[in-house]
Amino acid sequence: MPPLSTPTPGVRQTEFRFRCIACGDVSDSASQNFRCSHCGDLLEITYPHWKESGRTAQDLISTWGQRRLSQSAIDLSGVWRFRELLPALERDDQAITLREGNTPLYELPQCARITGVPRLFAKHQGLNPTGSFKDAGMTVAATSARLAGFRWVACASTGNTSASMAAYAARGGMRSLVLVPEGKISWSKLSQALDYGAVTCQLRTDFDGCLRLLQELVLRAPVYQLNSINPFRLEGQKTLAFELLEQLDWQPPDHIIVPGGNLGNSSAIGKALLEMHALGLISRLPKLSVIQAEGANALVRTLREAAGKRLISVQAETRATAIRIGNPASWKKAAHVLEATGGACEQVTEVEIAQAKAEIGAEGIGCEPASAVTLAGLKKLVKQGFVKPQESVVLVLTGNLLKDPDYTMEFHRGDLFKGTVDEGASAALNPLRRPPIVLDATLDAVIRTLEQAEK
Ligand code: F0G
Repeated sequence: MPPLSTPTPGVRQTEFRFRCIACGDVSDSASQNFRCSHCGDLLEITYPHWKESGRTAQDLISTWGQRRLSQSAIDLSGVWRFRELLPALERDDQAITLREGNTPLYELPQCARITGVPRLFAKHQGLNPTGSFKDAGMTVAATSARLAGFRWVACASTGNTSASMAAYAARGGMRSLVLVPEGKISWSKLSQALDYGAVTCQLRTDFDGCLRLLQELVLRAPVYQLNSINPFRLEGQKTLAFELLEQLDWQPPDHIIVPGGNLGNSSAIGKALLEMHALGLISRLPKLSVIQAEGANALVRTLREAAGKRLISVQAETRATAIRIGNPASWKKAAHVLEATGGACEQVTEVEIAQAKAEIGAEGIGCEPASAVTLAGLKKLVKQGFVKPQESVVLVLTGNLLKDPDYTMEFHRGDLFKGTVDEGASAALNPLRRPPIVLDATLDAVIRTLEQAEK
């Protein structure tokens, strides 16, 4: 089947164009694999008419602020509320929305003490409708799939994308096909895809193998691909940064720190920062830094060993399964925004991730392991002097604690590193462990436990 052109009806194509990130070719439509028809590289969405719209930064800020009082579905979405900077819809009711976005910005006083950075915040994207930051991108990309007339959407996933895609497909009356690596994603995420009615295939390969297969599939079958190669996903994920800056009264933080897997999210946040700067919404750029697990450190190696010129893929292995990715699709976009904002790229060990996750949890704010790399990475960046104690830092927590309860249970029971090379090093984490205690159902036993805990 020849590649279908997308999007077709419904989206006003004059409002945006697809631009190749490598050769710069600009076009009105994209093929189903969202690759440049000339050089095969990734596409991004660009808005050639923004400048002519005559809207000032003040206009935008006040329009977005007023919408917070509105009860219409599109304004209740923390993504579509910023629709002036997204691909335009002809009608508001075209958006498939679950009221995504609108996530809190928390202070982290205990982690601030641990890191020596008093102005430390967490933007908790795990409080989205399906429990991860993917929903912000999915509302835009699923909407674009439906407008283009697709009946099927599909993705390869380490779990969160599939959960989100399945939910938005169901809300939008579309069918969804999920490709996940067998045995390598958490049951919580898998169960979401099942509950939302996806056709779920556990493939005997890793995430990178699933994504390769999906990219071939979309050229052969009429399915719309919803991985972050799809540039509409990144447009939705951009809004995290708009909402963050609104919460900070448009005063940019010094640093924003994100986990890196397939590198779509860092690319999206970086794009948003550059756009906000160009539009005069912010007067200076925060430094955007990406943290990876040591066992899935393709971007770290690409920047260190190849100066960001060619991708160094790795065989990925980490218990933070969300970022168990060795061949990140958006590495060029991420390398670009890191350079443009002056951010850093670091890696952290499995023990450092587990420790950071427990420290965030001890603040009453749960996150999944992949999100905790941000705090672990911050500690390193402080040590290196890249982040200074007087600077403000925002950690992007990408997923909810409940996304991977097995990890948390194993950590607290002391089983997480049993039989691994990290077993010795992990002993240092014992003071953070709170294993469940089995007791006889007597008052005495409970009181003794309380007294023990007080010591
Ligand atoms: N954090 C979580 C919780 C994730 O699920 C992911 C990616 C990332 C961080 C990394 O973001 O890929 O944009 O660099 N999860 C994808 C998935 C790959 O399939 O759910 P990224």
